[in-house]
Amino acid sequence: MKIAVVVGTRPEIIKMSPVVRALKDRDADFQLIHTGQHYDHYVSDIFFKELELQKPDVHLSIGSGSQAEQTGKALIRLEEAFKNYDVDLVLVQGDTNTVLAGALAGAKLGIKVGHVEAGLRSYDLRMPEEHNRRVTDHLADMLFAPTEESADILRGEKVMGAVHVTGNTVIDACIQNMELAEDKADLDFDTPGDFVLITAHRAENVDNRKVLKQLVEIFEGIPRKKVYPIHPRAEKMFKKTGLYEDLKSIKGMHVVKPQGYFEFLVLMKRAKYILTDSGGIQEEATAPNINRKVFVLRDSTERPEAIDSGHAEVVGTDPDNVLQAIDRFEENKWKGGRCPYGDGKAGQRIVDIILQD
Ligand code: UD1
Ligand code: UDP
Repeated sequence: MKIAVVVGTRPEIIKMSPVVRALKDRDADFQLIHTGQHYDHYVSDIFFKELELQKPDVHLSIGSGSQAEQTGKALIRLEEAFKNYDVDLVLVQGDTNTVLAGALAGAKLGIKVGHVEAGLRSYDLRMPEEHNRRVTDHLADMLFAPTEESADILRGEKVMGAVHVTGNTVIDACIQNMELAEDKADLDFDTPGDFVLITAHRAENVDNRKVLKQLVEIFEGIPRKKVYPIHPRAEKMFKKTGLYEDLKSIKGMHVVKPQGYFEFLVLMKRAKYILTDSGGIQEEATAPNINRKVFVLRDSTERPEAIDSGHAEVVGTDPDNVLQAIDRFEENKWKGGRCPYGDGKAGQRIVDIILQD
């Protein structure tokens, strides 16, 4: 069986790495295809290096663009790549435009599609990710749900493919890499003691000047040092709206370039708590070797398991609301919780299922 493993962005490279590792261990016949949705070194190449992934066998260089342009380019170029390699199974991970294009190109060629991290729903149709994950789940032949909750969602929607509960590969990645990360992380700035770690990149947040202003107000209100590895989309929008200098001049704020995975694992582990709108970071916060509180700068989450385990709290972007939630946390010493996303063997499980099929 010939397998196409498709990645396009930072989180896909990280979360697919345990699957690639398991495919290699089993001597499976696969190609790693990078759409090139992310292309800057710090959101793409650095992860191949740190995670010891082979260079992509095929690189499609789709780059940035409008939603339709980016998805359309990926669709056309992936179809060609799948035909060239005579693919039997396409594997996609998550909810990006690359994922939608990979699933659609595969389905239209009559190739089986496997969706890693199936069954997540935010029920927020403003998010391109919600379109992508819904369509992908309904096209997929194999759905690898991270939890029973996500599997129940898929069964409730009567998806046509087979649903398997596997855990989330992000936990595998945390477990496989933390020791190495602590040894090799190359942080080229001082990590201040007791700092807060921040990320924000969601379109519904950073593409909106009002929200960017709210974020600045929130960060100003946190009486601790702050480390903010800034995503290229957010950097572009802070600059475009004239708010970048306001952000950088906040007391105790360190705006730094996007970090490699080793560096980011170490930052999560050392942080007092995390503020983010990222999906993957909500999950990583629950990993047994991270176990941090994460305030979710959004109105919804597709990761309710992280709320139930006590790690995540959805706080939106209203400064009063967010700062009150942080105050409550600072007053009550939270001791951490149990990881709801599996035992770190999701990648092996997924590959076992694929190769048995
Ligand atoms: C994409 C995904 C999002 C995921 C995120 C991971 C979609 C719809 N969105 O969002 O789900 O959480 O990746 O980080 O697929 N840019 C650069 N350099 C790069 C890549 C992007 O400067 O290497 C800038 C460009 O100005 C680009 C913008 O970031 O227009 C947005 O990039 P894009 O890939 O469209 O979406 P992300 O916001 O990265
Ligand atoms: N991450 C990283 N460096 C950073 C910020 C995040 O390596 O500077 C990693 C993080 O550990 C997680 C993933 O990137 O595994 C999350 O990606 P992102 O937040 O861009 O996307 P999302 O998960 O929201 O789709």
